[in-house]
Amino acid sequence: MSQTLFINATLACVDTDSGYGLREDAALLVDGDRIAWRGPMSECPSAGGAEVYDCKQRLLTPGLIDCHTHLVYGGDRADEFEQRLEGVSYADIAAGGGGIVSTVNATRAASADALFDQALPRVQQLMSEGVTTLEIKSGYGLDCANEIKMLRVAALLEKELGLRVQKTFLGAHALPPEYSGRGDDYISLVCDEMLPQAHAEGLVDAVDVFIESIAFSVEQGERVLARAQQLGLPIKAHVEQLSDLGGAVMAARRGALSVDHIEYLNSDDVALLARNRCAAVLLPGAFYVLREQQLPPLQALREQGVAIALASDANPGSSPLYSLLLVMNLACTLFRMTPAEALRGVTLNAASALGLAREIGSLEAGKQADIVVWDVERPALLSYRIGINPCVAVMQAGKWRTSARQVAA
Ligand code: NIG
Ligand code: FE
Repeated sequence: MSQTLFINATLACVDTDSGYGLREDAALLVDGDRIAWRGPMSECPSAGGAEVYDCKQRLLTPGLIDCHTHLVYGGDRADEFEQRLEGVSYADIAAGGGGIVSTVNATRAASADALFDQALPRVQQLMSEGVTTLEIKSGYGLDCANEIKMLRVAALLEKELGLRVQKTFLGAHALPPEYSGRGDDYISLVCDEMLPQAHAEGLVDAVDVFIESIAFSVEQGERVLARAQQLGLPIKAHVEQLSDLGGAVMAARRGALSVDHIEYLNSDDVALLARNRCAAVLLPGAFYVLREQQLPPLQALREQGVAIALASDANPGSSPLYSLLLVMNLACTLFRMTPAEALRGVTLNAASALGLAREIGSLEAGKQADIVVWDVERPALLSYRIGINPCVAVMQAGKWRTSARQVAA
């Protein structure tokens, strides 16, 4: 099995309770697909047969994890961008038959091949900035065949591009037009046919719902999550994005991996997230694009020790954003998160939000060797600069993704 020895590295291990877990003048050994050892240069094992990669004091971080995206979809919504700039709200556009439903029409009309071709550059862009794990949701098909089509495209992206893709079923994303006025009937379709069929095909790693006035009620969302749990699937939820309906409390009580958005979550409810080990996924791209004014309850999340993850929410409506480095910067500037919190948000805490924190998200012996080499000396530079991509090499499960040795030379 091949081995790689990184020497003269600065490591942001993200293995401590807070901060970067920084180790300067360090070395790290990869054996096969695992991190085997990490420590100071003074204790570095001899290279033996390992390939030696001299980091020249560059920074290594865990592979980045985008734990919430909707990046398989047809068409675009630039027209709605223009409408919103003229003052029409996201909710008004949705109520008028646009929004998610307009992407549903374009996604239904597209073949799986076309969806793959459109998603490819979005994924490649994220990968170019060190993303090694990506979550992709369905939710623009809203019937059996089209939800399954989307999830198959997500599975194909994993196979073709070699990164880890977690597939999340989001059949309860919006009410499809043919079910107008029959929300409960649509939820029955989701529970009785769509979800079981997608699951039977092995296409579902987790189940999500959108609980909001423009989507589904807490009761409807809970029906879907309960069904998911009957099938043994992990759950998560889009909640408290535009109003406080109580979806986060319901989802956390049921043991959700994460609750996502949560700008309108009441600080008093945050303790319940902590008690249930439910991660909070903050999505500064949607906050920015929708010009949201209500900040998520960050201080309460910190005080209660909730794992705070960050993600792109990449989608054609509320967050046409395909850069986790920009997400980190937005989280610092808009939410006043620290650069250390931002890095944790796209590594270890994002892994928690996917139920993968034992496997990925930090530079620790035993974890999968997903490692990014950055041409920076200090980790704060990742959040601080806008529009520069200092990623020079990516290792995924112990294998180089780029021609790293040439870059390092
Ligand atoms: O996370 N909130 C619901 N879903 C997406 C938006 C999807 C869309 O507008 O197409 C989100 O923001
Ligand atoms: Fe989303």
